[in-house]
Amino acid sequence: MQTIIINSQKGGSGKTMLSVHISTQAERDGDGPVYLIDTDPQGTLTQWHNLREAETPQRVELPFAAIGQGLTKLEERGARYCFVDTAPSRGEDVLSLLRLADLVIVPVQPSPSDIWSAAATFQLLKAEHIPFVFVMMRTKVNASITAQSVALLSKFGEVAPTFVADRTAYAASMTDGRTAQELLAKGPAAQEMTALWKNIKACIPTQAKRKEVANG
Ligand SMILES: Nc1ncnc2c1ncn2[C@@H]1O[C@H](COP(=O)(O)OP(=O)(O)OP(=O)(O)O)[C@@H](O)[C@H]1O
Ligand SMILES: [Mg+2]
Repeated sequence: MQTIIINSQKGGSGKTMLSVHISTQAERDGDGPVYLIDTDPQGTLTQWHNLREAETPQRVELPFAAIGQGLTKLEERGARYCFVDTAPSRGEDVLSLLRLADLVIVPVQPSPSDIWSAAATFQLLKAEHIPFVFVMMRTKVNASITAQSVALLSKFGEVAPTFVADRTAYAASMTDGRTAQELLAKGPAAQEMTALWKNIKACIPTQAKRKEVANG
């Protein structure tokens, strides 16, 4: 099983939106069983899941301190992916959690404050040799700040080639427990999520690669 944690210190960067949309996309692409864990006391992901009619992705409730053991149990149960949504807290608070990740997704909006916050998250992940990828969020057509942001972030680490555009469907679909792909199966958001999930899978390092990085 691969554990994918969505984290950034910045509030409102799109962590929950990505957790929901990417986990659903993984199921749609036949990569299930996919599980979700909400570690944010705000409980936004849990609220979305409670409204949801579809049976997948499944959500499990675990106390923060028991997540490591819980992940082992999910793997034994045959889970292929587990997505963990996190609170917008300082990196040190979630460090023990981040160490469990096969990949951390860091959503970043093209704005100076998001970039500064991403730089802090990067320092932490880099120091701990935790694999990560930046995902550009809420991008607008022809905005030069997106290209500038990508150029800056690329100095720290990989930026997923698929950008997530600013689309009302992403927010609107969640009001009744769905996702944008489920509102419009062949729409632009669906195409974006299909491409992004492929990008993310390609970023998950193999066990051998992780050992190599950890050993310097
Ligand atoms: N690509 C997008 N297009 C339009 N709206 C978006 C997009 N991404 C996120 N949003 C909206 O932005 C708001 C913040 O997103 P979200 O709740 O996912 O952020 P978050 O990082 O989980 O926030 P928090 O740090 O408070 O947990 C939500 O209303 C969400 O629907
Ligand atoms: Mg959230």
